[in-house]
Amino acid sequence: MKRLLSVVGARPQFVKAAVVSRAIERAGGFEHRLVHTGQHYDENMSDIFFRELEIARPDHALGVRSSSHGEMTGLMLAGIEKVLVAEKPDAVIVYGDTNSTLAAALAAVKLHLPVAHVEAGLRSFNMRMPEEVNRIVADRVSHWLFCPTATAEANLLKEGVDRARIHAVGDVMYDAVLHYSRTLPPSARSGRYCVATVHRAENTDDASRLGSILKALDEVADSVAVVLPLHPRTRARMREQGLKARKVEIVDPVGYLEMLALVRGAEAVFTDSGGLQKEAFFLGRPCITLRDETEWVELVDLGVNVVAGTEARAIVGAWRALAGRQLDWSARPYGGGDAGGRIVAALRGVE
Ligand code: UD1
Repeated sequence: MKRLLSVVGARPQFVKAAVVSRAIERAGGFEHRLVHTGQHYDENMSDIFFRELEIARPDHALGVRSSSHGEMTGLMLAGIEKVLVAEKPDAVIVYGDTNSTLAAALAAVKLHLPVAHVEAGLRSFNMRMPEEVNRIVADRVSHWLFCPTATAEANLLKEGVDRARIHAVGDVMYDAVLHYSRTLPPSARSGRYCVATVHRAENTDDASRLGSILKALDEVADSVAVVLPLHPRTRARMREQGLKARKVEIVDPVGYLEMLALVRGAEAVFTDSGGLQKEAFFLGRPCITLRDETEWVELVDLGVNVVAGTEARAIVGAWRALAGRQLDWSARPYGGGDAGGRIVAALRGVE
């Protein structure tokens, strides 16, 4: 029996690991251990995801709380190393681009354990983003690079990665939306509304960017309600900077199913999240991206996502332009919804 071990820590990783765990179980012939670093820990940032996505309880919970990047990553590295030495897995699966991804990839490769990176090859080409550093390092040390898009695959080939290590499997987040949207509860909201999220350090830790995003959302809220499930980082920065949104409806972070239901009922999505840009697409909703670049360039090419930056005028202008456009949702750039199964098939080759 092959022994696989997944490391997760932050919200989007719970969703990705749920897809891969289910595929591993369905395939049979594997033992699968789960490690939760503790990066996200509140009930509504972590526990609700395990319940809703029906993920088994973690076999190891390291309890490393968010702190400075160095301290958080260092504590995770030490904790994950101990687990890997004890568990001796045949392969370690890491997901996405968080500090938990980086710590797990480094801990594993230093113990000569092969690393599988789910969501490999994405690039924003902005090295000031912690996520960009994390994904480049994770890709560099991984044995299996599971790419969600053709662009991701091309990025890796350009960086000289051996083609044999690159697996174009599609996006596990598409698998997740297909699976979970079948049993979605109706959205708690009715009437016309938009949904927004803001959590990236580049936006939250710069008072002028955060202020201008909130100003834009307030302006949109003059015409149509805006619901903003607020990440704890953003809430803390707003308090510190004395920033307010007068008309936006601020709520606590919501679980995965409620988020999908909210997006499905929304007129448009405003976000700096990576995952939500695609969820908006999968559910047929236009997206205004509150960043200067995106890794999901296919959505921009398809005309359903506008990278608006953080200037209030540009955000509101992008929203108005998208609202007036006839959009085509027929393209399928994220695979066939079977990425989980294809990942497990590739991992069968584990020695
Ligand atoms: C992290 C990831 C990002 C991912 C995001 C998903 C990194 C560098 N970034 O960003 O790639 O898109 O998760 O949400 O790994 N906090 C709480 N309660 C929690 C979790 C966090 O209060 O349950 C607070 C922390 O104390 C911290 C802040 O939120 O002050 C930010 O958390 P952190 O894990 O550093 O980064 P995210 O912004 O969530």
